Amino acid sequence: MPGRSGEKVYDAQRRPLTLERLLKSGGAGSVFTLKERPREVAKLYHSDKDARVYERKLQAMLELQPDLPPMEGQGADQVQIAWPMTLLRDRSGRFIGFTMPILDLSATSDLEHVLQERQARSEGLPTGLGAKMTLAANLAVMLAALHRRQHYVVDLKPLNVRFYRSTLFIAMLDCDGFSIQGKGERFPAGQVTTDYLASEFQQPGVKPGQEEAQDRFALAVMVFQLLNSGLHPYAGRPQGATVPSDLPARIAANLYPYARGKPHPRMLPSPVSGHEMFPPALRDMFDRAFSAQARRRPSAQEWATLLLDYARRNAGQLVACGKDAAHQHFVGMPCAACARAELLAGSARAAQTRTRQKPNKARKQRARTAARVAQAQPVTAQASAASGVPGVMSRVTMAVIGTLLLGWVMGWGMPAYRRYSALVDPGIWDGVGLAVQMAMLAIAILLFILFVPMLIMSKRP
Ligand SMILES: Nc1ncnc2c1ncn2[C@@H]1O[C@H](COP(=O)(O)OP(=O)(O)OP(=O)(O)O)[C@@H](O)[C@H]1O
Ligand SMILES: [Mg+2]
Repeated sequence: MPGRSGEKVYDAQRRPLTLERLLKSGGAGSVFTLKERPREVAKLYHSDKDARVYERKLQAMLELQPDLPPMEGQGADQVQIAWPMTLLRDRSGRFIGFTMPILDLSATSDLEHVLQERQARSEGLPTGLGAKMTLAANLAVMLAALHRRQHYVVDLKPLNVRFYRSTLFIAMLDCDGFSIQGKGERFPAGQVTTDYLASEFQQPGVKPGQEEAQDRFALAVMVFQLLNSGLHPYAGRPQGATVPSDLPARIAANLYPYARGKPHPRMLPSPVSGHEMFPPALRDMFDRAFSAQARRRPSAQEWATLLLDYARRNAGQLVACGKDAAHQHFVGMPCAACARAELLAGSARAAQTRTRQKPNKARKQRARTAARVAQAQPVTAQASAASGVPGVMSRVTMAVIGTLLLGWVMGWGMPAYRRYSALVDPGIWDGVGLAVQMAMLAIAILLFILFVPMLIMSKRP
């Protein structure tokens, strides 16, 4: 295959063109600047197989062009869509690729970058609702123009859509990957991205003839993300362990939590979502787009009509926020950007308090441990000082032995002694002997009853 700087390729009129600089090599082909045509680039396919499939598709694209002329930008015209201009062949006449208008990539950014607010801010990309609304409207306008020709992007996602930073016009590349309407023939798209794939296509994929439903879904997801600080419409707070954590599975299960009416039983909205500050007409559109019935999804043209109305400055649908000059909100609605900023500031404060508390907490924890250790030390010291305080078993043993000893002394020892004394010196003992013996026994038993439980129950301090 051709594809080196300096090589010659030939256009449809067999005029030679010289490949100049390789701009980039993608999965399907390599893109070169052309020496003779500074406003065009050449895309040359990597393999013969690709080229054979693409030749008829490219022919169909040339025959059915969307009405998307370059827009007047600041200084130069801004290419909206890199649609093929002429087929390219090698010296022997074999199809090898095509030319398309060159797009000044350095003047553009992809939509993915604008969706993440922090990233957008750091790259100087727009963050206000007004600019995002314009981007959403322009995207819908572009898709509506493509759909009028029955061409569909299919792998429609923020990463695949660029915009001019100066004007917010949309710029689309890689159009030979779209689903293209030929004469009585459809040339399907090759790729999909499941985070943007409609519920009914998650399992079987997008079949030829069903592509518009897919584009309508992906467009609605992107509009939702643009107008709701990058939040995906199937992101939210799952209720219960059975809710899938990944977006494609949630799309497949129709777990859209931002619909009007009663809350979704399995998913709650994300707390940072500003959907409640959207006007009813916009919410209706989202509810239709993400309903379980695919046929209710609004067309690109419907989106274009609604969003252009919001985006037009003189329509007065969006107004500047009274609190923050960088914010805009829907007229008659609270400022979602302020609400979000407050919420984020609140959680940042809470996080800060937590991190501030952490050393405190740790200090408290350390103090508590130290106190316990300090307590423990006296206890240990007491325990060791009173190491005479025996364990339960030894206390029981002591009680038993002690009582028996006492009992022997009082009950048996004493009478034995007295009998011995009586032998030596008989006296009054003989009469009272038995009574004393009985009393001693009773005392011993009583002491046993009191002493043993007391000893056993006594706790270590
Ligand atoms: N019209 C153009 N003007 C300027 N640069 C272009 C143009 N078309 C393509 N490029 C550059 O070439 C790269 C590859 O182009 P493209 O996406 O058409 O190729 P691909 O092989 O189909 O890629 P992928 O595998 O991503 O689909 C683009 O990402 C872009 O950087
Ligand atoms: Mg491609």
